[in-house]
This record gives sequence, C-alpha cells and structure tokens, in this order.
Amino acid sequence: MQTAVGAVDARHAQTGAMTYNDKVVRQFALMTVVWGIVGMLVGVIIAAQLIWPALNFDVPWLTYSRLRPLHTNAVIFAFGGSALIGTSFYVVQRTCHTRIFSDGLASFVFWGWQLVIVLAAVSLPLGWTTSKEYAELEWPIDLLIAVVWVAYAIVFLGTLVKRRVSHIYVANWFYASFIITVAVLHIVNSAAIPVTLTKSYSVYAGTIDAMVQWWYGHNAVGFFLTTGFLGMMYYFVPKQAGRPVYSYRLSIIHFWALVSVYMWAGPHHLHYTSLPDWAQSLGVVFSLILLAPSWGGMINGIMTLSGAWHKLRTDPILKFLIVSLSFYGMSTFEGPMMSIKTVNALSHYTDWTIGHVHSGALGWVAMVSIGSLYVVIPRLYGRKEMWSIRLIDWHFWTTTIGIVLYVAAMWIAGVMQGLMWRATNPDGTLTYSFIEALSATYPYYVVRLIGGTMVFGGMLLMLYNVYKTVAERTSIADAPIPQPA
Ligand code: HEM
Ligand code: HEM
Repeated sequence: MQTAVGAVDARHAQTGAMTYNDKVVRQFALMTVVWGIVGMLVGVIIAAQLIWPALNFDVPWLTYSRLRPLHTNAVIFAFGGSALIGTSFYVVQRTCHTRIFSDGLASFVFWGWQLVIVLAAVSLPLGWTTSKEYAELEWPIDLLIAVVWVAYAIVFLGTLVKRRVSHIYVANWFYASFIITVAVLHIVNSAAIPVTLTKSYSVYAGTIDAMVQWWYGHNAVGFFLTTGFLGMMYYFVPKQAGRPVYSYRLSIIHFWALVSVYMWAGPHHLHYTSLPDWAQSLGVVFSLILLAPSWGGMINGIMTLSGAWHKLRTDPILKFLIVSLSFYGMSTFEGPMMSIKTVNALSHYTDWTIGHVHSGALGWVAMVSIGSLYVVIPRLYGRKEMWSIRLIDWHFWTTTIGIVLYVAAMWIAGVMQGLMWRATNPDGTLTYSFIEALSATYPYYVVRLIGGTMVFGGMLLMLYNVYKTVAERTSIADAPIPQPA
C-alpha cells in the first residue's frame, strides 16, 4: 500500500500540478471524529450522573457542574468547530479553484485551535470559569481564541480574494458570515477585567451583562451552530445527490433573510426577567419571523434531491444529510414556538429546552457534519468511498434511533415537569413538591441515557471505519486543481 501511496504522490510531484492544501483538511477531519467521541462520551457521563449522582466519586473535577460545560465546549467548539473549519477549507478551495491563501497560517489555525481545546479540557474540570454559558473559558484562553479566529478569517477570506473564478458560491457566503460574526460575538461578549490569571469579571453589569451574554448565546446558535453548517449543507448535499441546488435564487434570499433576522432574537432567552418588556417582545417577533428563512433553507436542501430520491434507498450518507435537514426543520419550528412568552412560561427551566437543544445539536449539527465527513474523508485519502458502506448504514440507524429516543424522552419529561411545577390545589398550595417532579423524571433520564449511548456507539463505528479507510488509502497527495480548458 505504501508503494501505491508513494507512486501517486510522486506522479503529482512530477507533473508539478498546482494542488489544494488538503493536509489541513485531513487534520481537521480526523480531529472532528476524535473530539466528537470525547464530547459525546462526556455527554453520556453527565446523562448517567443525572440518574446516579454518586458517579462523580466525590472528585471535584468530575462533578456535574464542571463536566457539563466540558461537554458543551467539547461538542460545540471542538467537534463542531473542527468540522466547520475543516470543511470550510475544503469547500473554499474547491469552489474558488485555488490553493488556500497561506499554508503557514492555515497550519497555525489548526494547531492554535487544538491548543484552545486542550486548554479548555484542562481548565474547565479545574473549575476555572467565567460562568457565562458557552463562553466559560477564562481571559487568557479567550485572547488565544481571538488570535486564532482572526487568523482563520484571514485564511478563509484571503482564499476568496485570490479565487480563480468570478462567482462566489453560496456555501462560502454562509461560511464567511459565520466566521465574521463569531469574531464579533466573541470579542464583544468576552470583554472582561482580569483579576488574576484564572479569574476575570465581565465589563458589563447586571441586566446589560445578561443581554450581551444572550445576544452572544443566541447568535452562537445562529451563526456557529446554524449558518456555518448551512454552508456545509449547500456544498455537500448537492455533491452527494449529484444534483444542483434546487433553487440558487432561494439560497441567496435564505442567506440574507437569515443573517439579518438572527441578530435580534436573543432576548427570547431572557423572558420574564428584568430585561425591559419591549426587548422581550422584540425577541419574540424576530424569533417568529425566523421560521420563514429557516424553512426556506430546509426546503431548498431537501428539494435538491428532486429526481434523485431513489438514491436515499441505497446511500446512507445521503440519509445522514437529509435527516439532518429534517431535524433542522423540526428544531427551527420548535424554537419560534418556545419563544412565545406563554409557551416559554411552561418550557423554560425544563428538559423541553434540552430536547430542543439536542434535536438541533445532535439531529442537525452532528448529522450534517458526520454526513459531510463521510464524503470528504475517502476523497482525502485517494479512495472512491469509505471502507465500509454497511458500517455507515449502521451508524445512521444507531444515531437516528438514539436521537429520537433522546429528544422524545426530553420533550415528554419537559412538558411533564412544567405542568407539575405549576399545578396548584384549590387552596393555592402547590400540588407537587420539586422532588416529586424530579422522581417522575427518572425513567426519561434512563431513556435519554440509552439514546445517548447509541449515538456514542455510532461514533465508535465511525472511528473504526475511518481508521480502515485511512489504513487502506491509495494516496495522501494533495488533489490537483483543475486547470481551465
Ligand atoms: C451522545 C450524545 C450526547 C449526549 C448523551 C448529551 C447529553 C447531554 C446532557 C446530559 C446535557 C445536560 C442536560 C441538563 O443539564 O439537563 C447536555 C447539554 C447540552 N448538550 Fe449534549 N449530549 C450529546 C451530544 C451533544 C452534541 C453533539 C451537541 C452539540 C453539537 C450537544 C450540545 C449540548 C448543549 C448546547 C447543552 C446545554 C443545553 C442547555 O444549556 O440548555 N450535545 N447534553
Ligand atoms: C428559528 C430558529 C430557532 C429559534 C427561534 C430558537 C429559539 C429558542 C428558544 C425560545 C429557546 C429557549 C430559551 C429559554 O427558555 O431559555 C432556545 C434554546 C436553545 N436553542 Fe434554539 N431556537 C432555534 C433554533 C435552534 C437550533 C437550530 C439550535 C441548534 C443547532 C438551537 C439551540 C438552542 C440551544 C443550545 C438552546 C439552549 C440555550 C441555553 O443554554 O439556555 N436552537 N431556542
């Protein structure tokens, strides 16, 4: 095999063909699988801790309060972030017909991002936290993130600038808006006054701090967990379906509508708080409007399969991509409903939110990433397809069934909790104590653990499949850039 790899690589070297930088894509792709496994394992552990609290073994580093942010940071920034950065480098080079802007800077982005992840994995269990959700990392790490992110922006936008085709394919618009917005969100929300190396205080006070935090938090969902992955969707769904995007015009409308509306919806995280009422109402209105562009994008993605529906029967990668779009549609219908104040009065603080989060984060984000990785990984190693298609099918079913179990359990548990907390007796006293609502939730926590374990098991199948694909590679040469005729 090594000879075959060497032969193909030597051929490219001889022809002196201009090539893409696929090394950095390979690095990010492999680390996406690794971090997905780590992040989901921690998810399974905290799901188990909610059933058996003794599983923290009285070790401070293993307490739920420290492992929970470890889970969210690992799945969002390590797994999701690596998938986004890696695929964006793959897509921008292919659609711009040019090599990446700077190999050195791209390599810095890879190693810098991995360093951020390792620092997070050490500092969060140690209890160093700003206590701002999804922005828990302390100021020295925040500074490093800012530097790496700006480098990422330079590499991506620089590649767009040096493109050899005049058109900028729509996937790049989504990726670019994700990169620029996340830079702004991170820098504004992380502004803090350091007290020691491991402790800082936000520069904002009280309600303003809360509003800045949820402006960040919601747009982290909107731009990190949605817009970037839509970029992925707009490249890999047509690619795998072998069809052009259903409506290119709709994709442009989708883009502008989505990015202009998302920014204003953050206050729906702060209903019934001291945030002024008008701001809360603004959040509701923009969240409701958000349904339209979200569904426009989902329909555009799913309809791309027109004329190729039969492929769904045999292609598990396409199944991953299309089911991810269905979950995207589901969570972006549910979100606007949950933003209505009377609905939020029931859902807030309950496991309904957790169900919503994971229908978006697992159903949409993880599935579209996994599907896309199954498209790129064999190509990066000179193979037509992954080592085993059957294993991909197994991965698809364990993931889909696992997510349905997880999400359905949390929906039922959430509505039940909300109703139990608000139930009152004729004399005005509460019908149920908090502990009664908690005991009633345990069976659903067990179902969630089973679902989560299935999703995690699927990732192990992926790891094995990736390992075999890489082991039986035919080339690790960078692919040549097609020359104009
Ligand atoms: C095996 C898969 C997974 C399992 C078992 C799992 C489990 C959990 C658990 C038990 C919690 C805490 C819930 C609570 O505090 O009541 C949680 C929170 C969270 N998880 Fe996961 N998770 C998984 C995958 C993912 C993925 C892939 C993502 C994102 C891409 C994700 C994003 C989140 C977020 C954002 C929260 C915080 C939600 C909130 O604060 O409302 N999870 N997860
Ligand atoms: C139209 C789109 C969406 C709207 C309007 C929306 C709305 C909402 C609302 C109202 C909440 C509950 C806030 C609360 O009670 O505290 C929420 C929570 C959340 N949503 Fe969505 N959602 C949307 C799409 C998504 C998607 C696609 C994802 C993931 C990929 C997602 C991830 C989350 C997360 C992580 C939280 C929990 C935040 C926390 O930690 O409290 N949302 N969303």
